Amino acid sequence: MPSNVIVGLQWGDEGKGKITDLLSKNSDYVIRYQGGNNSGHSIHIKNCSFILHLVPSGIIYPHVQCIIGPGVVIDPKSLMIEFKKLESIGIDISQIFISKRAHITMPYHGVLDQYKEWSLGKQSIGTTHCGVGPTYEDKVSRTGIRMLDLLDKNKFYNKLKYNVEFKNLIITKIYKQSPVSFKSIYDEYIEYAKYFENRVIDSVSTIHQAFQKKKKILFEGAQALLLDIDYGTYPYVTTSSTTTGGACVGSGVPPSFLENFIGISKAYCTRVGNGPFPTEILDSHVLEMIRKKGNEYGSTTNRPRRCGWLDLIALKYSCMINGITHLIITKLDVLSGLDFIQICIHYKMNEKFIYYFPANIDLEKNKLKCIFIKLPGWKQNISHINDYDQLPKNCKNYIKFIESYLNLKCFLISVGSERDQNIIKDQSSFIKIFS
Ligand code: GDP
Ligand code: IMO
Ligand code: MG
Repeated sequence: MPSNVIVGLQWGDEGKGKITDLLSKNSDYVIRYQGGNNSGHSIHIKNCSFILHLVPSGIIYPHVQCIIGPGVVIDPKSLMIEFKKLESIGIDISQIFISKRAHITMPYHGVLDQYKEWSLGKQSIGTTHCGVGPTYEDKVSRTGIRMLDLLDKNKFYNKLKYNVEFKNLIITKIYKQSPVSFKSIYDEYIEYAKYFENRVIDSVSTIHQAFQKKKKILFEGAQALLLDIDYGTYPYVTTSSTTTGGACVGSGVPPSFLENFIGISKAYCTRVGNGPFPTEILDSHVLEMIRKKGNEYGSTTNRPRRCGWLDLIALKYSCMINGITHLIITKLDVLSGLDFIQICIHYKMNEKFIYYFPANIDLEKNKLKCIFIKLPGWKQNISHINDYDQLPKNCKNYIKFIESYLNLKCFLISVGSERDQNIIKDQSSFIKIFS
């Protein structure tokens, strides 16, 4: 059975939630493998809309087993709220499982995330303040608390004691703020332990057994390549591996288990938070139009998203690192109505043309400029179209241009936020993914 990996190819919010939900119909398992509640994956089905932060986006289908994998960091408070919201709208959450190995976000992580951002001043990352970065810092420094530690009262007590004492030194001495309380955190988290206990599993053996039984597995990435800790626009990135390779690391499977590498790109670009964004649109008229039509506001923090033209240099780099075999373009409907559409095809850095995405992407220091081409736009609303041939000619030309630049076929185009607002452009790829 082929297994599919879905990743974002830009700076997040490409529509991974919508596409994961769509592909979950024919999946037995959906596994989230990195990130934390910093992500917000939206799903719209008729009159029902919700945003998932930690729960895999396969949850709407009752036959799908959803696993929050070892590479994810879990804020139990946020996860409990998510569970209760799903239950309140009648969604069965009995098939959600959590890896024993997943690290836990503690209240001091959120606090440290905020204080660090304040201390950085103008150089702040613009994080979600969810504490995801500090949780991964503790994981790497080997003092983190894992799900299995939470279930062992003594171990949890000792690990928490060490961490609270250490973090309080930083909070009070460096940031000159009030300490956090060991007792209140301990009492709160012991309640979470009771709430989640029956769902905590050894996900590695569960996933490997599923492979042996030829079950269909879908790995759902969070964030996106340009926010990756190693390959993104460092330091303005998140703190996990957002690549297709991250699916192996974050769920404990070998690369040979993965078959179809599905990359999602919007028909333009957005970014929330700070950091370089070469194709950012500063013209307020076009910016407002895209933001309004695309509802470009952060799903986790509600911050207005920065918007820009499609950046093919960045997209090519992203497809290359992820080894994308199947491309999906979302939000094409948002560009309807523009007289022309720009696409970035080269960068100029320090007066020299470059055709690759540079490691030192500092727009001002390296005098980085985008070279755009202009393609004619289309006026018609395309959000009701399901057949590729029905798309306006200029719209098809836009897609063709992207495909030929990337040397990659786009197999699915999304033209609205609803589950059925899609155009299957390449039926054989679609069947391959679904078979
Ligand atoms: P994710 O983090 O990648 O899952 O993306 P988000 O959910 O944060 O943001 C994507 C937003 O675009 C959500 O509000 C989706 O409902 C919406 N969306 C997804 N695909 C389309 C599309 O093709 N057209 C439009 N107009 N909206 C879309
Ligand atoms: P999904 O999965 C968009 C951004 C933050 C900030 C940077 C670091 O919905 O695509 P962090 O809290 O991770 O330390 O913040 O990363 N960021 C996202 N932007 N979509 C996301 O997730 C994001 N998760 C983190 O805005 O710039
Ligand atoms: Mg999102």
